[in-house]
Amino acid sequence: MAVIGIESSAHTLGVGVVADGRVLANEMRMYPITDEGIIPSKVADFHVGNVRKAISSALRKARVSLEDIEAVGYTKGPGLGPCLGVGNLAAKSLSMKYGVPLLPVNHAVAHLEIAKHINGFVDPLALYVSGGNSQVIGMEGEPFRHYHIYGETLDIGVGNMLDNFARKAGLVPSWGSTVAKAAEGGRYVQMPYTVKGMDFTFTGLLTNAVAQLNEHSVADVAFSMQETAFSMLCEATERALMLTNKRELIVCGGVAQSKRLREMLLSVCEAHGIRFGFAPNEYNADNGAMIALVAERMLESGQRYAIGDCGINQRYRIDSVRITWR
Ligand code: FE2
Repeated sequence: MAVIGIESSAHTLGVGVVADGRVLANEMRMYPITDEGIIPSKVADFHVGNVRKAISSALRKARVSLEDIEAVGYTKGPGLGPCLGVGNLAAKSLSMKYGVPLLPVNHAVAHLEIAKHINGFVDPLALYVSGGNSQVIGMEGEPFRHYHIYGETLDIGVGNMLDNFARKAGLVPSWGSTVAKAAEGGRYVQMPYTVKGMDFTFTGLLTNAVAQLNEHSVADVAFSMQETAFSMLCEATERALMLTNKRELIVCGGVAQSKRLREMLLSVCEAHGIRFGFAPNEYNADNGAMIALVAERMLESGQRYAIGDCGINQRYRIDSVRITWR
């Protein structure tokens, strides 16, 4: 028996299949990003055009037929409304047609859980960094076990800052790995550094970096902005580690693919004897396998939902999710 998961919160449509915590397939179709950025209705059209094919090819790769599927998971949020709607509808159709449970999954929980699972961690602190989110998170609480947010961005996600900077600096494609490449060989110039307790902000840094493009090379500015932003994330994470006494740290989400960020977090962990881990890049990008993995945990721990309660929530916060599995 297997569980299928559909992810459609942003520009990537993902369909994954898992069985007993093992990933059998992880299919992705990514909307081609152009200068106009992400227009939700256009991305949703792309997902509509690809969802059937992605489901079929995930099942083929997993060597599983729809009749063998035990439950269907989908991303409830957070994300872009029209895009979430496509995955929601596809998942509902499968659930009704095959008479199997439908499970609404929080996208951030999924990134965190798959990284935790792959590293075999028990109770990690997590730095979740993506386009739309940047949060320092850890498990808390009985009887309402949930992921508590110790600190987070007070404006935009760090990934959003990197993508925005890339566009303003004319770097193509406009995302974080292009900024990282442009930063090679750069020298540090002074930039605003803002950490408030365990929260942080990125818009001031972005505005300052874009303005400094008039005086300094793209390499110097890209390097300095990246170093400043990642140092802010490391400071907040280190403070949260000291506060919570957690002995494991994971970094997850799209920006967790950054080698420099991983290197800096590793040095924080080494200084305190803390275990550090992350998932392979295919699970830091948006993907269906992580949705299927969490759906399987929800299923096994007894969660069931009426179809009418399975909607979407563009602002579905991780700290509102009840965690019913260990
Ligand atoms: Fe994501």
